This record gives sequence, structure tokens and C-alpha cells, in this order.
Amino acid sequence: MRIKILGFDCSPRKNSNSGALLQASFATAKEKLSGTGELVSEIIHLRDCDIKHCAACSVCGKRKDTGEYIPCVIKDDMADILAKMCEADGLAVATPVYFGLPSDLFSKFIMRTRVLRHQDFRLANKPVGIMAIAGRRSGGAETTIMSSWLPFIRNGCLIVGNGDQTCQFGTMGWAGPCGHILSDEWGLEQGEQTIRRIFEVASLIRAGQQALGQTGTPMRFSYTSGNRPQ
Ligand SMILES: Cc1cc2nc3c(=O)[nH]c(=O)nc-3n(C[C@H](O)[C@H](O)[C@H](O)COP(=O)(O)O)c2cc1C
Repeated sequence: MRIKILGFDCSPRKNSNSGALLQASFATAKEKLSGTGELVSEIIHLRDCDIKHCAACSVCGKRKDTGEYIPCVIKDDMADILAKMCEADGLAVATPVYFGLPSDLFSKFIMRTRVLRHQDFRLANKPVGIMAIAGRRSGGAETTIMSSWLPFIRNGCLIVGNGDQTCQFGTMGWAGPCGHILSDEWGLEQGEQTIRRIFEVASLIRAGQQALGQTGTPMRFSYTSGNRPQ
């Protein structure tokens, strides 16, 4: 089975640890998966993309009367990125730890996925794994991972950890200068495991969708549920 995983490098730094970890994790996962399935990967370096802030105009989503989908009105690289996210079987995020949180680049990007949520959760059932790279031991990798989960849960995604052997919360990298991550043995091991876990769950989801004859999103977005009447 051919499974595509889209990776997001959420660092503003060229030659970032986040990008290096993603690249190494994909490469090792492909070696380990050899013979059991085909993993196709792509890394998007968010710093190279034109991504504007969500303007909170609430135009995007779907028409309340007909349900017709309305795209985001902002013209930048997000249209392509959103299309790639919908097409991918799984998502992997690698972010530097900033004050115990994912990077501001991550936040800017993820807020723009609200359009997909309002279009009947077009990311529904996609497995997502998070890699967080902290400069310091106990510097906030776990809080970063958990904070990153929240918007994906709101998008109907399925959160995974690093699966086999330890099943921790994802990947905790420990690195300072650019490239330092490539000597963090435990971070590299968790990174590769996280990618394989995303692959495994994505394969199960695909098989389930095929068995059920399910195409497109199985979820429906409601503009009224949980809102106080105005
Ligand atoms: C604004 C800023 C905030 C940071 N906050 C933390 C932090 O809270 N904890 C930590 O361990 N490292 C922190 N760091 C260090 C980075 O997480 C670390 O250098 C990481 O390797 C950067 O990854 P990158 O190469 O992918 O950008 C911070 C760095 C910056 C620039």
C-alpha cells in the first residue's frame, strides 16, 4: 500500500534541526518499512512559504443554506498547502520548542486550516505525529507536543505517539545549534518510530475506508452546535 506522509518543518532557521530530524526520520523509516509498504514523503519548510495570518473574517467554510464549500479569501501559499494536506494519508510536524510551545510559524499555519474544519472536517481521520526539538533538557518538549495536538484534534485528526516499544508522546529531540539533532540518538530513534506509527495507522485507516466503501470525509460540521444563540 502506498502511503503519503506530509512533513512540516516549523522552524524559521535555514538548515533547522526540525527539518533535519524530519528528513532523517523519513529516510530511516523508509529503510525499515522496505518490503512491507511504500512510504512517500514530502517536507514543507514553512519558512519558505508565503503564509499570512488568518484574518478571522469567517468568510471561508461552507454556505449555511446549501453547504457549498467557500475557500479562504487570502491569496498566498496556503491554498496549495491545504490541498496537499487533504491529499496526504498522514501528517508529521517537527517544531522547535519556543517557550514551551510550538513555534509561531506553526501557529500561523495551523490557524489557516480552519477552512478545512468548516468544510466538514476534511482532515478527518488523518493520523498526526509531533516532533518537538528543545535546546535544553526538560525545556518543554512535552508541553510543545501536547499543545500542537489541540488544533489537530479540532480538525478531526487522530493523534499518534511513537508506537512500538515505548509508545511515548511523539518525538522529543534535544539539540541546540543547527544540525545538532543528528547526534541525538534517542531523538532520531523516536523520530523514525513516529513516522512508522503514522504510516501504520494511515494504512489501517485506508484499509478501513476501502472495506466500508468510504470516500471523502465522514464528518459533518455544524455552525450552531455548542454556540449560544445570538
Ligand atoms: C524564541 C526561542 C525560544 C526558545 N525557547 C526554548 C524553550 O522554551 N526551551 C528550550 O529547551 N529551548 C528553547 N529554544 C531553543 C530551541 O528550541 C532549539 O535551539 C532548537 O534546536 C531549535 O530548533 P530548529 O533548529 O529547528 O529551529 C528557544 C529558541 C528560540 C529562538
